[in-house]
Amino acid sequence: MNILLTLAVIGGTGKEGKGLAYRWASAGYRVIIGSRTAEKAESAAADLNEMLGAEAVEGLSNFDAAEKADILVVSVPYSAHKSTLESIREAAQGKIVVDVTVPLVPPKVTKVQMPEAGSAAQEAQSILGENVSVVSAFQNISHEHLFSDRTIDCDVLVTGKGKDARLEVLKLVKAAGMRGWDAGVIENSMVVEGLTSLLIYMNKQYGSKSAGVRITGLKQGKK
Ligand SMILES: NC(=O)c1ccc[n+]([C@@H]2O[C@H](COP(=O)([O-])OP(=O)(O)OC[C@H]3O[C@@H](n4cnc5c(N)ncnc54)[C@H](OP(=O)(O)O)[C@@H]3O)[C@@H](O)[C@H]2O)c1
Repeated sequence: MNILLTLAVIGGTGKEGKGLAYRWASAGYRVIIGSRTAEKAESAAADLNEMLGAEAVEGLSNFDAAEKADILVVSVPYSAHKSTLESIREAAQGKIVVDVTVPLVPPKVTKVQMPEAGSAAQEAQSILGENVSVVSAFQNISHEHLFSDRTIDCDVLVTGKGKDARLEVLKLVKAAGMRGWDAGVIENSMVVEGLTSLLIYMNKQYGSKSAGVRITGLKQGKK
């Protein structure tokens, strides 16, 4: 792990982003929580620091967080995806942006409803431009898992622009206590994002809150 990297979790005051921030801060990363409101970010960061017993997390506005960090993570509801990305576009240039967003369309969140571009990640790439490497990950990880120190029984399928960027994000997956796989180009994100609706459906059907996926037949590190 590169302990000098700083991660900004845009929308990190929410369930998924705050949980990921907790895991990365636990692993030694410098983490900044981003919010539309700096005060809300500071309050979420204070919660996490109390849980961690250290001053490891900072809270800033989304733009300031994005500007200060090396890698950005976007974790907002799909309805806020476009406006959030537009608000950090300038600060994201030249960086990796990890998109966690699932294009759920309430109230039918158990039905796959992909956007015209193919996926939320492809929309992000188009909004942020070619100078940004958008990598899609964590859509199948329920926030229910994140506020524990246990290894998570769900794999992370990592897709996105550029192999080097995907490999960098696989390091973040590992640091967060999960097993990740390089699942190829950004167009493949539509499958991973779509899977989340199936998992939500199956959670309801089988009385769970944390269904996930496991890849079998592969060994980590093998080509
Ligand atoms: N929850 C899960 O278990 C889970 C699992 C996998 C993937 N995901 C995906 O991860 C993303 C975040 O999920 P979540 O459950 O963490 O969402 P959330 O708690 O509802 O929202 C996350 C943050 O997004 C910001 N936000 C909310 N509404 C907004 C709006 N209208 N405009 C701009 N910003 C807004 C808020 O931050 P500020 O008010 O501080 O700006 C909020 O704290 C979603 O796309 C979700 O589908 C979630």
